[in-house]
Amino acid sequence: MSRPVPPNTQPIISIKDISKTYKSGVKALKPINLDIHKGEIFALLGPNGAGKTTLISIICGIVTPSSGCVTADGHDIIRDYRAARRAIGLVPQELHTDAFERVIDSVKLSRGLFGYGPNPAHIEKVLRDLSLWDKRTAKIQELSGGMKRRLMIAKALSHEPKILFLDEPTAGVDVELRQDMWEMVRKLRESGVTIILTTHYIEEAEEMADRVGVISKGELVLVDEKAALMRKLGKKQLTLHLREAISAVPEGLNGYSLELSGDGSALTYTFDGQADESGIPDLLKRLGEIGLDFKDLNTEQSSLEDIFVSLVREQRP
Ligand SMILES: Nc1ncnc2c1ncn2[C@@H]1O[C@H](COP(=O)(O)OP(=O)(O)OP(=O)(O)O)[C@@H](O)[C@H]1O
Ligand SMILES: [Mg+2]
Repeated sequence: MSRPVPPNTQPIISIKDISKTYKSGVKALKPINLDIHKGEIFALLGPNGAGKTTLISIICGIVTPSSGCVTADGHDIIRDYRAARRAIGLVPQELHTDAFERVIDSVKLSRGLFGYGPNPAHIEKVLRDLSLWDKRTAKIQELSGGMKRRLMIAKALSHEPKILFLDEPTAGVDVELRQDMWEMVRKLRESGVTIILTTHYIEEAEEMADRVGVISKGELVLVDEKAALMRKLGKKQLTLHLREAISAVPEGLNGYSLELSGDGSALTYTFDGQADESGIPDLLKRLGEIGLDFKDLNTEQSSLEDIFVSLVREQRP
């Protein structure tokens, strides 16, 4: 479902040499360079403390960078803060709302804060899309955690932003609602909104993103189209289910990277999905020669999760 990036289009966000060292001395971001393309869903993946929220907060003008510059929708986020910020909707990681305010008023207020006049039809649409219309007159304190998170999204969409940041959008949201949220994010993209989300859920990136950036210890260690990433880094495995179990990998198969399952009934061959030659024809021929018979075979490609875990592990000292 990944979409190719259109060539020669101006990036909607351009991040140049952005770094951040907090007053405490914590170096949260090493210089980061990244362009976000209009209309894409970009997933920022990384472990706790990697710098995801810091990067988003800088683009949204909440945290001042130690170096570098960012433009959002063509506006410098510091020199031209108001125009840049108007183009952006932000759903922060930490929820903070006024407990006594009513849902619909809270969304209307958010729109007003950006200097836009009322638009009841838009507010209704946003609340309906997020299944909050029935709760519009409820006080925020009466909402469940998942509803509060959806309210934060409604508030972020109140001023019809071109760019939407979702910082851990589905933390604490149940599986069904998570699917609904993904659906809504896809619809937003179809309407032309650019979406940048951070997540710990790799399945979320795998399901949603056009491109993935992996951030580890303040460094953007990898940015690629999701499909290309999986092609490039994904190892493939061929599993042969043997007709009769064996106790060890036969000597005649030395030289192949093979692993025997615990019960001796399956041999797994791992190969580079990118290599010109998988080595499979050779292996199968060799099996025939030594008379090892199999009843079935299947292949698997490693998931984004495997790729992510191995990348982050490589980064660790
Ligand atoms: N206001 C702050 N003052 C000092 N240090 C901070 C501040 N905010 C974040 N940090 C530090 O900067 C680093 C990056 O934090 P950040 O919140 O950007 O990570 P993250 O990738 O969003 O993590 P998580 O997945 O846990 O949300 C961490 O070491 C964190 O302790
Ligand atoms: Mg964070």
